[in-house]
Amino acid sequence: MAKIRIYKVAEQLGMPTHEVMDILKALGSDVKNHMSSIDEEYIELLQEEREYRKKEEEKNRKRKERTIQLKESPHLKDIARLLDMHWEDIVIKLADWNVIFDSKKPLPPLVVERLAREKNWEIIWEDSLREKTIEALQGGLGIRPPIVTVLGHVDHGKTTLLDAIRRSKVAQSEYGGITQKIGAYQIEVSNKKITFVDTPGHEAFTAMRARGAQVTDIAILVVAADDGVMPQTIEALQHAKAADVSIIVAINKIDKSGANPDRIKQQLSDYGLVPEEWGGDTIFVNISALQKKGINDLLEMILLQAELLELKARHQGYATGTIIESRLDRGKGPVATVIVKEGTLKIGDFFVAGATWGKVRSLFSVNGKKVKEAIPSMPVEIVGFSELPPAGTQYMVIEDEKIARLIANQKQLKEREKSLKGSSAQITSLEELLS
Ligand code: GTP
Ligand code: MG
Repeated sequence: MAKIRIYKVAEQLGMPTHEVMDILKALGSDVKNHMSSIDEEYIELLQEEREYRKKEEEKNRKRKERTIQLKESPHLKDIARLLDMHWEDIVIKLADWNVIFDSKKPLPPLVVERLAREKNWEIIWEDSLREKTIEALQGGLGIRPPIVTVLGHVDHGKTTLLDAIRRSKVAQSEYGGITQKIGAYQIEVSNKKITFVDTPGHEAFTAMRARGAQVTDIAILVVAADDGVMPQTIEALQHAKAADVSIIVAINKIDKSGANPDRIKQQLSDYGLVPEEWGGDTIFVNISALQKKGINDLLEMILLQAELLELKARHQGYATGTIIESRLDRGKGPVATVIVKEGTLKIGDFFVAGATWGKVRSLFSVNGKKVKEAIPSMPVEIVGFSELPPAGTQYMVIEDEKIARLIANQKQLKEREKSLKGSSAQITSLEELLS
């Protein structure tokens, strides 16, 4: 077999001699110096190895170029600078993702990673920085009251039940005796707060029932003992199941002569709500909202259930929440009731709710008293909207007026685009019809 000296090979391949020696040594050859000779058939192997090394080097260089090593938790403007983005654009993105941020605090690590990924960058966290940031962000988690939504068929006694609990008389004043909107209340029993949401039972108000089930931790399914399980009873329980919330059944009107609680237990068992005494895990409580019987038992069950759920929320920082209802008030203008999910809502806060924005001018408790702030699970009426926000919209405090307006405008644009697309789709089908 023909032999060739190493310096000749290097010349031929256009490689430095030391690299050729390097590769040969790595192959197990005992080359001594550039004058040593090797079999000619090594040349091809050397060439391949050389190509492979080149590619790897290039890859490594590229990988290094696209990584960001973080030595401290990045704040909004830091990450904007690192990713060469406008921080306003990031704020809009965060609003799109429903991420609440506080410019005085680091961004959540997952958000940083997602932003980076969109720009083809990879984040490398130093030591346990990622975990430390998460811990720091979670600091300040405190217990919050349960949110309890009362659901059920029309006239089964939901509002009367809440009247009994609140010692109020809302049901009597309702037009036509039926509830037509969602109502939110907060009460205190044995030093513990509970937030209640009343929903209408009339079949026309499906969306409100669904919304009520969405914001809640516990659903109270009210069934009148003399009427039994009815279409909206089933609909309501399906909303609660879809929202994955615990259900407590309140069998109401047990004072009536035709009351038959066992029949209701039987009917609901067919829908998977099996009473504890029958081997299931659903709590049933017999009550009479009108005669205020069984109310304390029901409240006890709610508090017990709430304790099991270990409900917590961040109390500090900017507030987020859900719009429960909105209306145009003659004196106050557009107002909305919000149940705060996280953070503390304060007078003077700028906010966004869907495509509307505003500044909190005043806050009222659901009893109509002026309050200075609202903490998690608290329902509160906000004055200061630029327009009426639709119920069900997410509400979010934004640190700066300019950005709040920017986000709302962006959302308006998007909504307009969507409706334009909708109408152009219609035109196409019309054209199709005509052709
Ligand atoms: P919608 O909100 O319209 O779905 O009705 P609701 O479920 O809120 O029922 P509401 O509380 O308005 O009560 C309907 C009727 O049932 C009223 O006339 C109440 O006085 C009556 N009622 C409610 N609870 C009881 C009860 O425990 N016993 C009896 N006898 N009547 C009750
Ligand atoms: Mg009602």
